[in-house]
Amino acid sequence: MDNFWNERYINEQFIWGTKPSEFTVLCEKYLQKNKVKDILIMGIGYGRNGKYFTEKGYHVDGIEISEEAVKIGKTFDPKINFIKGSILDLNIELDKRYDAVYCCDIMQLFPRIEQKIIIKNCIKNCKNNGIIIISCISNKDILYGRGKNIGENSFEIKEGHIMYFTNEEQIRNIDEELELIQIDYFIEEGRNRIYGIYKLKNKWSKNCT
Ligand SMILES: C[S@@+](CC[C@H](N)C(=O)[O-])C[C@H]1O[C@@H](n2cnc3c(N)ncnc32)[C@H](O)[C@@H]1O
Repeated sequence: MDNFWNERYINEQFIWGTKPSEFTVLCEKYLQKNKVKDILIMGIGYGRNGKYFTEKGYHVDGIEISEEAVKIGKTFDPKINFIKGSILDLNIELDKRYDAVYCCDIMQLFPRIEQKIIIKNCIKNCKNNGIIIISCISNKDILYGRGKNIGENSFEIKEGHIMYFTNEEQIRNIDEELELIQIDYFIEEGRNRIYGIYKLKNKWSKNCT
């Protein structure tokens, strides 16, 4: 996977441009209202969304597997702390827990079993009562159903290129440790997407009397 992304970044550099996604701009308002100060971004790429957050005064750490993306990102926004590593690594143990974990535009790359690991890693690195934001390519996208069906909501849309789509039920039942705050479909960059904003339930208050 990292070779695929390294090659893309070498050939295309700022693949999605240098501006943040519209979704990121909307989320920032929500994060501001909730007094978020530091954010962890999963699969940050070269940091087009991270840069928007640092410009607004947030501290941003981002995990990224592609060393090429990290190289581009460090020049693009020296304020972002890029962590070269895999969001699938169960041993990710960062120094702290974050007010918010932002996980956008990556789930379509991973089969369900790996998506669950990513969600657990989001949870592991989020503060109690912290915010987790997940956006995915939805089952209403134009590519849904194209090519060979290889599993639930998963299609090999062309040889060697599998996409894992997400539906409303999956967003609603993402993990029992997360309370869903907002859910909706939206269209950006021509793709139909779905997002969930969650609050991490306070584990420590659970059995307290
Ligand atoms: C579709 S891009 C989205 C990048 C970024 N979220 C954005 O919207 O600009 C997916 C990113 O995930 C990264 N990635 C893929 N697998 C990863 C993994 N296992 N761990 C960390 N990053 C990964 C890729 O290198 C790529 O930068």
